[in-house]
Amino acid sequence: MRQDSLFHDLPPPSKIRQADEDRLAILKTQIRHHDHLYYVKDRPEISDGEYDRLFRELLDLELKYPDLVTSDSPTQRVGAPPLDELGKIPHERPMLSLDSLMDPEEVLAFHQRVKRELETEQIEYTIEPKFDGLSVELVYDRGAFVRGATRGDGTTGEDVTMNLRTIRALPLQLQTDTYPEHLVMRGEVYMRLSDFHALNRRMTERGDDAFANPRNAAAGSLRQLDSRITVSRPLVVTCYEVMAMTGPLPSTHWDELERLAEWGLPVPMLRRRCETIDQVLAFHRETQERRDHLPYEIDGVVVKINRVDWQNRLGMKSRSPRWAIAFKFPPRKEVTEVQDIAISVGRTGTLTPLALLRPVEVGGVTISRATLHNADEVARKDIRVGDTVRVERAGDVIPAIAERIPVSGQIRPEPFLMPQHCPICGSAVARDGAYYYCTGQAGCPAQLKGAIEHFASKTALNIDGLGKKTVAQLVDQGLVKDLSDLYRLRHEQLLKLEGFAERSSTLLLEAIARSKAVQLERFLMGLGIRQVGQHIAKVLAREFGSLHAIMTADRNQFQAIREIGPETSESLVSYFQEQSNRRVIDQLQQLGVSIMETPLPQRHTPLPFSGKTFVFTGGLSSFSRDEAKALVERLGALVASSVSKKTTYVVAGTEAGSKLEQARKLGVQILDEEGFKNVINSSEKP
Ligand code: IVH
Repeated sequence: MRQDSLFHDLPPPSKIRQADEDRLAILKTQIRHHDHLYYVKDRPEISDGEYDRLFRELLDLELKYPDLVTSDSPTQRVGAPPLDELGKIPHERPMLSLDSLMDPEEVLAFHQRVKRELETEQIEYTIEPKFDGLSVELVYDRGAFVRGATRGDGTTGEDVTMNLRTIRALPLQLQTDTYPEHLVMRGEVYMRLSDFHALNRRMTERGDDAFANPRNAAAGSLRQLDSRITVSRPLVVTCYEVMAMTGPLPSTHWDELERLAEWGLPVPMLRRRCETIDQVLAFHRETQERRDHLPYEIDGVVVKINRVDWQNRLGMKSRSPRWAIAFKFPPRKEVTEVQDIAISVGRTGTLTPLALLRPVEVGGVTISRATLHNADEVARKDIRVGDTVRVERAGDVIPAIAERIPVSGQIRPEPFLMPQHCPICGSAVARDGAYYYCTGQAGCPAQLKGAIEHFASKTALNIDGLGKKTVAQLVDQGLVKDLSDLYRLRHEQLLKLEGFAERSSTLLLEAIARSKAVQLERFLMGLGIRQVGQHIAKVLAREFGSLHAIMTADRNQFQAIREIGPETSESLVSYFQEQSNRRVIDQLQQLGVSIMETPLPQRHTPLPFSGKTFVFTGGLSSFSRDEAKALVERLGALVASSVSKKTTYVVAGTEAGSKLEQARKLGVQILDEEGFKNVINSSEKP
């Protein structure tokens, strides 16, 4: 009996299973809920110990009932063996980038433009932080996370589904049952700063290389072939854009984000809706002030037009939407030390001081040198070896020293002085204002190398295969002493150079031979005349048409051209006066370099009759009145119907009337038909 009753007190196996199944479902929901509170809301409600107990209990139950393990279970965030390589996934929609602006003026201009295009006065914006991580595409089918990819080239990305599954902030199953059948989103994967530092500590303790910045750490972790490694990397994700979805679409970006949040997805917490552009600017300022106190890196804010129909109306450009911009923060600055000041010699002989720095990371890039521009700049900033300085970096711009930070009690060496001799060739250094030049010209290997690289560059003679390294060899081996030597190079000479074989030598010689037929503007540009870049070279070719005309022009002729100022004129005249330059040009031509003159139709020499006014009276025998008019107008003149003091010429034919009288009275020059023809003929001569 007792046995029986005991037996009866125990539920039957099917009931036990049912209870376990229920418990398992509750555990999954609870863990998901706490993951969400912890990773998305940043507001945990239970201790780590309690969380671990729930997790253990779930693991035990799943061990007992392997058939109850579903792919969306919190225990299944790592479920795949390591891969050989990441697969490719075509994006459902192109993943665009954003236009970056930094200046509030530009943001105001953006606002004006969209107001004009949308023909409205009021535009509501949603603003979010610009997370500094890597962009991913996330796809949910019937609420289940099915795949995710990196941005890749914007059209196809790498399949990082398994690695994304390890990110606890990312729900494997959406909550509530209002989610769409199909949902494609874009978000950013990044690493919190504290997690990044802890990870780097662990890495270095193990003897592994530390990551340079949180962004690299996030990228390296997400693009792992083994998701068991990714799971140990503390990544987070935030969703900021619906790229496609089935069912009714929210009408604003703000509502989109609210819906995503309802489904349990992480969305930007710092978002704000702004009704005026001033609010946008204020949010940018406030966020910038908070930047250093945020637990993750951001590099600006993203400003998006809120209404989705307006977004659609504005559409997109080739690579970025026209309804959103990245409003970036100014570059970050870092402090480091000047270990030495070196001098580099450029192709025109300019000596540029360079600060060699104790390597420091500024906004994700390690910087070990910064240009000091010129001697005045060094003096103005008073930079000396051993100084503590603040370096800054803006976008891709070369790093610069923003300022010196005085350190009290520090004994500093004497102020930096420019050398009196070129550090490369030893020639005397000359000075022109803030600039110092090596006087060695083509005799200075640094200048010669620079000049040849410039001559061979894409926008000049475009000699393929004549890069920095080859140029250095040609100069160092004494094969090229001036530009013309390039056209004297022989196959067997090239073969002796390191890295050159039959084929590469032939290719280089062919490329050099091809460059012999060259347009005037490219040739001019290639000469490397100070102040003469691509634009001025074009202007000169257009105005003068031939190299001969340019070489024989004087200062005034150059300066008569709007785009050319006194300095450029001076530089041109002195370049072509220099005997050695004329000799090289002469030799280049003798060696077969043929400079194609700029055809007349492209030339816009100021018209010979610009500013002159003609008045016609009486009949001409060789032209009709209209022909004569057209002729002088083509030459730039104005034709008036009455004579005034401003009239330049009165052309008097047969039976001239009162206009002739008037001209005499005012002392205006009078031309008969013969005189008229002479004036025209002389104007048409070059
Ligand atoms: S929206 C079509 N929102 O910034 C618009 N992008 O230069 C898609 N980013 O590659 C982008 N935070 O990786 C958007 N709140 C945010 C963002 C954000 C960071 C990144 C994104 C993109 C880059 C644009």
